[in-house]
Amino acid sequence: MEQTFIMIKPDGVQRGLIGDIISRFEKKGYYLKGMKFMNVDKSFAQQHYADLSAQPFFAKLVDYIISGPVVAMVWEGKDVVLTGRRIIGATRPWEAAPGTIRGDHAVEVSRNVIHGSDSVENGKKEIALWFPGGLAEWKSNLHPWIYEN
Ligand code: GTP
Ligand code: MG
Repeated sequence: MEQTFIMIKPDGVQRGLIGDIISRFEKKGYYLKGMKFMNVDKSFAQQHYADLSAQPFFAKLVDYIISGPVVAMVWEGKDVVLTGRRIIGATRPWEAAPGTIRGDHAVEVSRNVIHGSDSVENGKKEIALWFPGGLAEWKSNLHPWIYEN
């Protein structure tokens, strides 16, 4: 099944949103396949956001990501990349619909609580970067109650 890389950013950790965020993905019917609570250093943050290195806000973005611990996770399920982005909400929190994580919990684009992979391909790259040791293997007994097959 499809996998995505999700990271609760330092503001989400500091504000006590870890439980709320995990709960949304769990209740939806996705499987947690990997999770780490960690600090990242500058070069790692630069690598994660390499595609944005030409942006004027890149240095600020990197400083934000290294400003405190993050929760790095891999979630698995049908269409989890796109649906995960919809659960997260628009990049700019003022454009994020109420009911989404950013719509409910964020104000500033530079403090938008959470990251989610933007494509299956980028998800694979991010999972390889953050979880080089591999992922947990498991399937919920509730699987047939959530998925048709
Ligand atoms: P991520 O899930 O974090 O990758 O966000 P995204 O995919 O919704 O947006 P994008 O990849 O384009 O940007 C990555 C992150 O850079 C955003 O989540 C913001 O935290 C930050 N960012 C984007 N645009 C701006 C901006 O105009 N100013 C600042 N300060 N930060 C920005
Ligand atoms: Mg992005």
